[in-house]
Amino acid sequence: MCGIVGYIGAQNCIPMLINGLKRLEYRGYDSAGVGFINSNNEANNIKVKGKVADLEAAINGNELECRIGIGHTRWATHGIPNQINAHPHSNKENTLLLIHNGIIENYSVIKQSLLKDGYEFKSETDTEVLVNLIDKTLKKKGDLFQAVRFALNEVEGTYGIAVMHQDYPDQLVVAKNGSPLVIGIGENENFVASDVNALIAYTSKVIYLEDHEMALVTKDRVKVKTISDEKIKKEIQEVKLTLSEISKGGYDYFMLKEIMEQPESLRNSLRGRLLEKEGISKLGGLTGYIDRIALSKRIIITACGTSWHAGLVGEYMIEQYCNIPVEVEYASEFRYRNPILSPDDTVIFISQSGETLDSLAALKETKRRGALTIGLVNAVGSSIARETDCGVYLHAGPEIGVASTKAFTSQVIVLALLTLLIGRRRITSPQDGVQIIKELKSLPEKVEEILKLNNQIEKIAENFVDADNFLYLGRGYNFPVALEGALKLKEISYIHAEGYPAAEMKHGPIALIDENMPVVFLAPSDSVYDKVISNIEEVKARGGRLIAIASENDHKIDGLVDYSIKIPNTLRMLMPILNVIPLQLLSYHIAVKKGLNVDQPRNLAKSVTVE
Ligand code: G6P
Repeated sequence: MCGIVGYIGAQNCIPMLINGLKRLEYRGYDSAGVGFINSNNEANNIKVKGKVADLEAAINGNELECRIGIGHTRWATHGIPNQINAHPHSNKENTLLLIHNGIIENYSVIKQSLLKDGYEFKSETDTEVLVNLIDKTLKKKGDLFQAVRFALNEVEGTYGIAVMHQDYPDQLVVAKNGSPLVIGIGENENFVASDVNALIAYTSKVIYLEDHEMALVTKDRVKVKTISDEKIKKEIQEVKLTLSEISKGGYDYFMLKEIMEQPESLRNSLRGRLLEKEGISKLGGLTGYIDRIALSKRIIITACGTSWHAGLVGEYMIEQYCNIPVEVEYASEFRYRNPILSPDDTVIFISQSGETLDSLAALKETKRRGALTIGLVNAVGSSIARETDCGVYLHAGPEIGVASTKAFTSQVIVLALLTLLIGRRRITSPQDGVQIIKELKSLPEKVEEILKLNNQIEKIAENFVDADNFLYLGRGYNFPVALEGALKLKEISYIHAEGYPAAEMKHGPIALIDENMPVVFLAPSDSVYDKVISNIEEVKARGGRLIAIASENDHKIDGLVDYSIKIPNTLRMLMPILNVIPLQLLSYHIAVKKGLNVDQPRNLAKSVTVE
């Protein structure tokens, strides 16, 4: 959460800061600001409540020419979203400016001590405490980099920060602990940002900072040290992202673009990973680890949000095809409940961003306890990808819409590849392996077929714009899909929605059903079809408004439900990939028809780097 950018070099920094912030806006969008040193060598900032476009409007007409600057887009943690709480924060003299992503946990203790020293505070933020702590240290030490370093040694919590001072106009100081920070290397200019999306228009060469590292960035040098003052030699890495991959490409919203990209993102997740004749998958990132994984006594899948839903699908798959017990844990719960782990366990971390703080913390705890760690991550070079023992990239391409869509389907398909790899070393026969591969290969085309139903789904959506509640029901592999369908709807349309295993309906949710309650059933023609039909009858008898996602050859269901969306069939383990697509489109159209910004839903952020 919160996006950070910075520039130092020969050009005017303002266009880069604004452009970079727009690329990072998915990280937070309640307020924004820039800090800079102007042509009179004075530090200053411009901050607004609202989006980067509001900041841009506030800057326009100021004709700023600055060679060093920092920018921030905020997702509020301490203090309401307003202009005062927006970043950058500064010292009293307004000579020292700082932007921050993360939370300073011991801020109130530090604040008390600063108040005693005569410091005053304008905002309610933890960040203003940090900037004043650096100010105090700087006044004693007289060196910006060292002052930041000493201050950070007093701080508990998480941070990605960028700091500048008007007396040090050729220095940008950055540091990282728990929140991402990447440095972009240019010619006669250097950049900093929370993620590479903000940088790729300017450079493809980057240095990723690790936790407890900080850097002094000038226009032609980057010096990295730990906050305990050890020198570090960092590798410059090449980023292979293109601008078109992070543009809307003619769509109204990134979310719709990303839904429509799924045939391609699934192909990319599969590319080069299928050994058809042997009925097995090939996952290069697990080389050297696969024997240990296949011998695991237990597999634990840890994730948050949509990635956790993908993990639930993984549980069904791995237990069915590998005969290894699987548990799926919210990372936030797992890390705090003293998990019992041994070197015989494998823990899989699923994350689109690779930066979710709770997942990262769970990963660190797992490593401490000696279990093997696997990352299933989309963002290349992200913290979880770097810190796990081994892993598989999703290759879904950048996902910008806050509501996750193509990352989910790629997570499920990669879990299927992993299941195949482990399963074929355990209980899955070559014939079953070949069959799974055949079905995997057919998925992108089947998704294309489903996407052709977009207009039909848009029409269905018109009938539900005024709904206050929704229920999503499914059994087996489709229970996680029900959860994901409900999450998509509440995230972007603000309609209360719940996902349930269909049979559990009778243990509570059925009390809610009347003629105002829309119920979405996942009802493919599979072994539990008849049971789902009974549940549909139960809802119908109570007047609920019924939508069913059903198999293309199912005509029986039309007589039972108000709206049916017919989709191709596949193996049960792969059904979630197909079934979720109509649910993504349904939520999208309901939210758009309500006039909401689906890419930037209120209160949410794409990358949750606070607890
Ligand atoms: C946020 C996003 C969700 C995502 C979740 C986990 O809540 O809005 O879309 O599923 O974080 O994120 P991760 O990047 O770890 O998959």
